[in-house]
Amino acid sequence: MTITRRSFLKKTSFAVASGMAMPAYLRGAVPGVSANDKINVALIGCRGMGWSDLYDFLQSKEVECLALCDIDKSILNSRAKDLADIRQTKFDLYDDYRRVLDRKDIDAVIIGTPDHWHCLQFVDACKAGKDVYVEKPVSNSIAECDVMVAAANKYNRVVQVGMQQRSTSSWKELMRYLDSGVLGKISRIHVFANFNYAAINNILPDSEVPEGVDFETWLGPAPKRTFNSQRFHGLWRMFWDYGGGLLTDWGVHLLDMALWTQKINGMPRSIQVNGGNFLYPNGMHETFDTLSVMYQFDDYIFSWENNAGIESGPYGKNYGLAFIGQNGTVVANRESWEVYPEKDKIPAKTIKGDNKEHRLHVLDFLYCMKTRNQKTACPIETGSLSAKYAHLGNISARMRGISLQYGNNNHQFNVSEANKFIKPSYRAPWEFPEIG
Ligand SMILES: NC(=O)c1ccc[n+]([C@@H]2O[C@H](COP(=O)([O-])OP(=O)(O)OC[C@H]3O[C@@H](n4cnc5c(N)ncnc54)[C@H](O)[C@@H]3O)[C@@H](O)[C@H]2O)c1
Repeated sequence: MTITRRSFLKKTSFAVASGMAMPAYLRGAVPGVSANDKINVALIGCRGMGWSDLYDFLQSKEVECLALCDIDKSILNSRAKDLADIRQTKFDLYDDYRRVLDRKDIDAVIIGTPDHWHCLQFVDACKAGKDVYVEKPVSNSIAECDVMVAAANKYNRVVQVGMQQRSTSSWKELMRYLDSGVLGKISRIHVFANFNYAAINNILPDSEVPEGVDFETWLGPAPKRTFNSQRFHGLWRMFWDYGGGLLTDWGVHLLDMALWTQKINGMPRSIQVNGGNFLYPNGMHETFDTLSVMYQFDDYIFSWENNAGIESGPYGKNYGLAFIGQNGTVVANRESWEVYPEKDKIPAKTIKGDNKEHRLHVLDFLYCMKTRNQKTACPIETGSLSAKYAHLGNISARMRGISLQYGNNNHQFNVSEANKFIKPSYRAPWEFPEIG
């Protein structure tokens, strides 16, 4: 029997929405395709999200992990133990991702490295004929987004970006709800994220590189500097050379929901920003603890707000989106979405989220890898668009809040000084990837 992606997703959404225990197809084989057909994967960047992704891949019996790659030996060895606990099959350990890509027996790689590494590893993987599950944000700059789209298309690779809300039944139900027009005219979409971790107030001096860490390779194409533990594992997000703070960390997930509902596939007319390290001016973080971005469209307001170092927020939530319409407001995040009616114009309701989205997202990727005739739930074009929205906001903020326009056709800003932020200069021997 052939199962289309639509019917597969319908089936999985039903199971998730009805609150059943995790059904067999979430644990076992990829539905609709032969279980004998093995998929060999490798993980590049094993500490945090990369490992979570691999764990979900390994819930499918036909997936084998042939290689783990990391520049930190202690992480690599500890993940090797974790993997050996799950699977008895042989796998190899690497500290250079290019040796992983040399292997002809690997079908797909999972990229779970910090953001400044995604583009190069992604493009090299595409060139090596691998399918790619790449974590979000797809890259740390606008130009990298573009080259990744070009690489995936040129080398015809199946790509899933780790923006797992795209595979969540409750979000899809929200899309249908908003599509139905029940809110009336939507005049404002407000996206917000307030998290403590994004303010780094524990100031530590630079120190020796920990034993077993290849810090030179961790820096990779980013500028050379001495080691500091507050800029390393996990915390790199708050430093411009490696990440973009809450706007790229949470923003890509949440802005994508707004772009999805509004069917936006280009850049906004212009953006206006105000932000800085107003809450914690003496913190170590470079990315802004306080930031407001207005993405300008003709007939509604689309805005982002983040506060780092606090965790209370609008509507009693520390992160989410509010869709404000004539008949009511919908407030959504991963936990739930809720309708707050305007007077009694529409019924109130609450839909709980599920926490199966990662597994469903991985299954969708495996399904598309096997069938090779459909786009994944979050292809590189989709991941790139929300990443670009995040980068636009950060660039304007780094330009002291100057209002900017970014040309959909010429790929330049209207203010030439801002163009220096479009493409990072890679530190030798790494070179910015070109797609001929
Ligand atoms: N989808 C989600 O919900 C979600 C959640 C968390 C993180 N993420 C994304 O996952 C990615 C990783 O985040 P994290 O929090 O796990 O980071 P992390 O710092 O905890 O882990 C990154 C790992 O990559 C390794 N690494 C760095 N450079 C490498 C290289 N050149 N080759 C091989 N390994 C290398 C590091 O040693 C480390 O083990 C980020 O892009 C992040 O935005 C996504």
